Amino acid sequence: MPRLSATSRHPVSFTLNGRPVRGEAEPRLLLHDFLRHVIGATGTHVGCEHGVCGACTVQIDGAPVRSCLRLAVQSDGAEIRTVEGLAPSPERLAILQESFREHHGLQCGFCTAGILMSLDAFLRGNPDPTEAAIREVLSGHLCRCTGYTPIVAAAMTAAARLRAEEPSHA
Ligand code: FES
Ligand code: FES
Repeated sequence: MPRLSATSRHPVSFTLNGRPVRGEAEPRLLLHDFLRHVIGATGTHVGCEHGVCGACTVQIDGAPVRSCLRLAVQSDGAEIRTVEGLAPSPERLAILQESFREHHGLQCGFCTAGILMSLDAFLRGNPDPTEAAIREVLSGHLCRCTGYTPIVAAAMTAAARLRAEEPSHA
């Protein structure tokens, strides 16, 4: 990576939910601040700001990443997906989101965006997960609202529906 001047801003561009975006960032600006304050994509929430709670999780090149542990300038050229990119259209939720709605897995919603981004990536690679595997994924997300039961149920329902939609995964 090239050496960047700490006092100046540097151009950063990447694909966000399928669309090219660009802006300028000081070298120390974190990705979540770039997304929220430079790009205006406020769906990604910020909790602990040091990699513990999982609230800020986004997908970078298909993998879940904590955006509080990533600099904006490190993301130049990447393909980034956030919670705003899950729904197939403004009128229709993604299967995972719909399952959360049905099972009341949203709760206060603060950490939901990060949980959705982790589960979405996980279910893509693990179409027939056990409940234990889902709980393992969720162990990286600290939710203060209540127990994780509705979230686990929503993830299991979503996995079953996604398998039904893609019979090759069954
Ligand atoms: S805000 Fe990033 S892990 Fe908590
Ligand atoms: S949904 Fe409220 S803290 Fe997790």
